[in-house]
Amino acid sequence: MCGIIGYIGKEKCIPKIISGLEALEYRGYDSAGIAYIKNNKVIIKKEKGKIINLKNNLNFDEETYLGIGHTRWATHGEANKVNAHPHNIGKWTIVHNGIIENYAELKLELLDKGYTFKSNTDTEVACAKLDDLYKDEKDILKTLKKATTIFKGSYAFGIICSDDSSNLYAIRNTSPLIIATSDEGNFIASDVPAILNYTNKYILLDDCEIAKISNNSINIYNSSLEEIKKDILTFEGSMEVAAKNGYEHFMLKEINEQDKVFKDTINFYFDGTIDSLKNNFSFLDKYKKIDIVACGSAYHTGLIGKYLIENYANIPVNVEVASEYRYKKCFYDKDTLVILVSQSGETADTLAALRKAKDDNIDTLAIVNVIGSSIAREADKVIYIKAGCEIAVATTKAYTAQLAIFSLITTYLGFINKIIDEYELTNLLDDFKKMPKEIKKIIDDYKKYFDIADKIFKNKQIFFIGRGIDYAISMEASLKLKEISYINSVAYQAGELKHGTISLIEKNTPVIAIATDKKLYEKTVSNIKEVKSRGANVILVSNQLPDDKFYDDLILIPQIHPILVSILTIIPLQLLAYKVAKNNNCDIDKPRNLAKSVTVE
Ligand code: F6R
Repeated sequence: MCGIIGYIGKEKCIPKIISGLEALEYRGYDSAGIAYIKNNKVIIKKEKGKIINLKNNLNFDEETYLGIGHTRWATHGEANKVNAHPHNIGKWTIVHNGIIENYAELKLELLDKGYTFKSNTDTEVACAKLDDLYKDEKDILKTLKKATTIFKGSYAFGIICSDDSSNLYAIRNTSPLIIATSDEGNFIASDVPAILNYTNKYILLDDCEIAKISNNSINIYNSSLEEIKKDILTFEGSMEVAAKNGYEHFMLKEINEQDKVFKDTINFYFDGTIDSLKNNFSFLDKYKKIDIVACGSAYHTGLIGKYLIENYANIPVNVEVASEYRYKKCFYDKDTLVILVSQSGETADTLAALRKAKDDNIDTLAIVNVIGSSIAREADKVIYIKAGCEIAVATTKAYTAQLAIFSLITTYLGFINKIIDEYELTNLLDDFKKMPKEIKKIIDDYKKYFDIADKIFKNKQIFFIGRGIDYAISMEASLKLKEISYINSVAYQAGELKHGTISLIEKNTPVIAIATDKKLYEKTVSNIKEVKSRGANVILVSNQLPDDKFYDDLILIPQIHPILVSILTIIPLQLLAYKVAKNNNCDIDKPRNLAKSVTVE
C-alpha cells in the first residue's frame, strides 16, 4: 500500500531511489514521484502510472545526494499526477504511506489559516500541517514530535525540510518503515527489498519514533525527543530473491518455488520426530478454543486450518475476516488462542484485530512471513513461514507455507489429543517427506492445466464448487483466478447451488469442481451431475479416478494424507489461473487496483 524510499549519501540519489521504487512497486503502482535537493532547492518530478513513466523523465546523472521517492496505491483522490507524491507545502516536502484519518478536520483548520491545496490527498494536508506547526515550533524535531501527537491513523513519512538540506527525516505510526545503513549513505524504505542492492543492514523504526538521517549518521528519538539506541539488524536473504530468474512473471517463479518453500517451512519446525513438534508447538496444549483471523488468501488458509484442527484435533475453531473481527463482539476467554495469519505481517485490519485481542488480554500467535513485521513483533508468539520474499501481488508460495504450518499444528495437536494414533502418525510423517516431490511433479505437469486454461479463458464467468475443505480450497482458487484475470468467479458450497446459483449455469459455463474429501465425494459428484445436465463444462479436481464420465476435464491429485491434500490441490489451480490471465493479456504480477501489502483499513 504505497512504497516510500529515501536516500542521503555520497552517491547520486536518483538511481538509488528509482531502483528502490522498482523493488517496492508491488505495494502500489498507479503513480510515482521523486523529490531531490539540488543546489539547496527541492525539485519534484511525478508521473501517473507505473514507475517506468517517471523513470523515462529523469536524468539519472543529476548532481543530487538527498532525495525521497514514492509509488502510490490511491486512497484519497484519483490516481493522477496532481495526487501523486511527493507533496510540498512551504519548506516541507513529504512522501507518505498510510491514511491520516483526521485529515478532513485538519484541512478545514488549515483552510481557515489561508492554506490552499492542489490535490485531494490526506498527504498534502499533513504536509501543510507540518508547515503550520513549524511556524510555532521553529525546530524540525519539535515539529515532528508535535505532528505525531496530532496525526491520527497510519503513516510512514519520508520528509525533507528545505531549512536542513543535510538531513532526511522520517516518522511512522503503524505503517512499516526501515532505516538502512551502508558505507555510501543511508536509506529509509517501506520494506527491505528496496535497499538490498546496496545493503542488508537495517533498523526497524517503531511507532512514534523520529529519525534524523545524514549521509554518515542515524539518530533516532523517542516521543520525548530523547535519543535512543536501536539494534542494527541483518537481512539474511539476497537480491536474487527479488529477481525473476528467467521466469516471465514473479507469480510463475513463486509457484515454481513451492516444493522448496514447503520443505524449508516444514524442516524448520519438524525433523521427522514428534519430539520436534513438541518442542515447537507444546505452547498450544493449553488452549480449548481457537480464533483464526486474517484477510484474503490468508483467511482462506485459516478456513482450511479450521477444518483440519477441528477434525483431527477436536478443538473448536472460529475463523473470521480481520476487517469484521476488529469491530465485532468476541466471545473469547483465557482458554482461547487468537491466531493471526499474514504474509506481510503489516495488513492493517489483521494488526488491528491482534491489538484488540491483546487489549482484552487474550493470547495471540502470529503466522507470518516477513521477519520483524509489525504483526510478528506485537504478537505474544510468532511462527515464521519460510516462503522468502514474495513479490507477485497474488500470493501463492506464502499461502502454501501457511498451509504447511496448519498441517504441522494439526499433526501435533491431533496426536497429543489422541485422535491421530501411532500408526496414522507414521503414515502421515512419511507423507510429509513425500510432499516436495509431489509438489514438484504437479508443477512439472503444468502443460495439462495450461491446456484447460486455453479452453476456458474467454468465458465471462467461472464457478468453483466443493464441500467442506474442498469449499475452502475453492474459495482460494476462485480468488486467484478473478484477481489476476478479472473474470468473474465465485466459489459455492456444492450443495448450495440448487438454492439459487444454478440458474446462472448455461451451456459451456465452466464449473471447476473440487472433490478430494472421500467422505463427501459421492455427494459432490451428485452436485456435479446437476450442473453437467444443465450444460456446464465441468473440470473435476479430485484424488479419485471416477468410473463414470460426468466431467469434461480431470485434474488428478496424487494420493496423500488428507491433512496435506489441500496443498497439492491448489497448485494446479494457481497454474490454471496464471494461464487464463496470461491468455487475457493481464498484468499478472500487478493486477489492477491491487497492492501487495494492505496497510490501510
Ligand atoms: C490474494 C492476496 C491477498 C492477501 C491479503 C492478506 O492473492 O494475496 O488476499 O492474502 O491481502 O495479506 P497478508 O497475508 O499480507 O496479511
